[in-house]
Amino acid sequence: MDCDKVLVGDCLKHLADLPLESVDLAFADPPFNIGYDYDVYHDKQDRASYLDWSQQWMSAVVRVLKPTGTFWLAIGDEYAAELKILAQESLGLTCRSWVVWYYTFGVNCKRKFSRSHAHLFHFVKDAKNFTFNADEIRVPSARMTTYADSRANPKGRLPDDTWVLRPQDLTAGWNAEEDTWYYPRVAGTFKERQGFHGCQMPERLLERIVRVSSNEGEIVLDPFAGSGTTLAVAKKLYRSYLGFELSPDYVEAIEARLEAIIEGDPPAGPANPRTSAPSTPTKPRRRRTKVPKLFG
Ligand SMILES: C[S@@+](CC[C@H](N)C(=O)[O-])C[C@H]1O[C@@H](n2cnc3c(N)ncnc32)[C@H](O)[C@@H]1O
Repeated sequence: MDCDKVLVGDCLKHLADLPLESVDLAFADPPFNIGYDYDVYHDKQDRASYLDWSQQWMSAVVRVLKPTGTFWLAIGDEYAAELKILAQESLGLTCRSWVVWYYTFGVNCKRKFSRSHAHLFHFVKDAKNFTFNADEIRVPSARMTTYADSRANPKGRLPDDTWVLRPQDLTAGWNAEEDTWYYPRVAGTFKERQGFHGCQMPERLLERIVRVSSNEGEIVLDPFAGSGTTLAVAKKLYRSYLGFELSPDYVEAIEARLEAIIEGDPPAGPANPRTSAPSTPTKPRRRRTKVPKLFG
């Protein structure tokens, strides 16, 4: 398959052009239908249309997944339940984990609590045969770091299914020893921020997903490339990648982002944000396009 590129246009069309069962890992972070201000996509469809469209693109993803393939879906509260049922009951996927990504630096809302989490569903096609590279993503266990317990697995343990992004704010709660995920949302001041897309996901989050659910040389697909985070991480981790994105301007910026990456580069952001803060640029950056606002 022709890989290592991002194509401009509707993912439904591009997915239909891909061979059956050709992709090892698909990661999708679709528009959440919450009125986000994207470049060209209108993120406020009526409920029935959004669900119908979700059904179409998700079944198109399932068609291109290998029998051993994995599909990670990032989704907000509004449609998490509906899309999970759709994936399981209509599309026949198995949900291995329902991960909650907890983050700070969310957008402030005026008349409801500020959004600080997203859902990450880990679906597989075959419940018995899928890639799960546990040793790639282990974290130190409390037995190792706190209790000097000789029973500790020296390789560490798997992370919990709530992923905390700023554990320094939760000193009495989850912390590194409890193996939660904590990578900050890519805030406006972070060096990692590309500056052209308001929904940029942290590379460290995608690093975990790409490492655990695929192997070097395999094909990673992102039908909603956005700022290109999945593709950037896949390239850094020696995977083949393919992305689709509706906005020509975003695609141009993604291509520049990918161009600047050399395979083997480390993912952006601190490996352990509990002990080191994300770096910020030395000079204020000029925005390439306006950063969309979330309507709270
Ligand atoms: C939530 S953003 C993805 C952000 C991405 N995960 C990142 O880290 O940058 C969703 C993206 O899907 C794009 N999009 C919406 N409808 C699409 C479609 N039918 N085909 C391809 N891309 C689409 C939007 O333009 C937007 O950039």
